[in-house]
Amino acid sequence: MPDPGPTNRSAPVDVPVHHLIRDRWSPRAFLPDPVDGEDLARLFEAARWAPSSGNSQPWRYLVTYRGEPAHQRLLATLNEGNRRWAGAAPVLVASYAQVTFPAKGDRPARPNPTALHDLGMANALLAIQATALGLHVHFMSGFDQEAVNAAFPPPPDVQPVAVFTVGHGGDPQDLPEDLAARETAPRARHRREAVVVVDGWS
Ligand SMILES: Cc1cc2nc3c(=O)[nH]c(=O)nc-3n(C[C@H](O)[C@H](O)[C@H](O)COP(=O)(O)O)c2cc1C
Repeated sequence: MPDPGPTNRSAPVDVPVHHLIRDRWSPRAFLPDPVDGEDLARLFEAARWAPSSGNSQPWRYLVTYRGEPAHQRLLATLNEGNRRWAGAAPVLVASYAQVTFPAKGDRPARPNPTALHDLGMANALLAIQATALGLHVHFMSGFDQEAVNAAFPPPPDVQPVAVFTVGHGGDPQDLPEDLAARETAPRARHRREAVVVVDGWS
């Protein structure tokens, strides 16, 4: 088992699930250590093998490394709350969905209603692969979509959906006090019965 980092926040599951699911969580404390290039390749390879509608593979990723100008530009698009901690991680990625099926032959481009779903599938596999490698991923919707598009003009019909950090988990004590408290708070979820119904909605 890879070292999960200074904080182990294994989920208090109600029934057993795979340890990679239990052990994945979203830290704000990251070590400055770089992510091995081969490990990063494995994350995107995991995403690549996600299922998608019609095998359309609508996920796209823009990768930036701390210390590079592109990283600064992407970091600047995050809201203030996220900028407080996300800059410490060595890798910051914008994930995008191509929201149309491309034109094919005589058939014009048309909306892909499950593009965001399929990006989520890819991101979930990426996060699980990260856990298997002892890495952490923290997704963020707290960013300015227009600012990302201005900083990195995307291909047509490709929209930024979630930005995320990748890195090794750090020590919560290195965070400001309020963020450190969130890092060690109990993890909570809706009860399974509240989100899964059988044979109809009551
Ligand atoms: C699409 C998405 C957007 C999120 N946006 C933010 C964000 O802007 N800032 C943040 O600190 N966490 C963000 N999170 C992390 C969630 O708060 C976190 O996944 C949730 O609280 C459950 O915690 P866990 O991932 O540690 O199990 C986001 C997660 C997802 C999947």
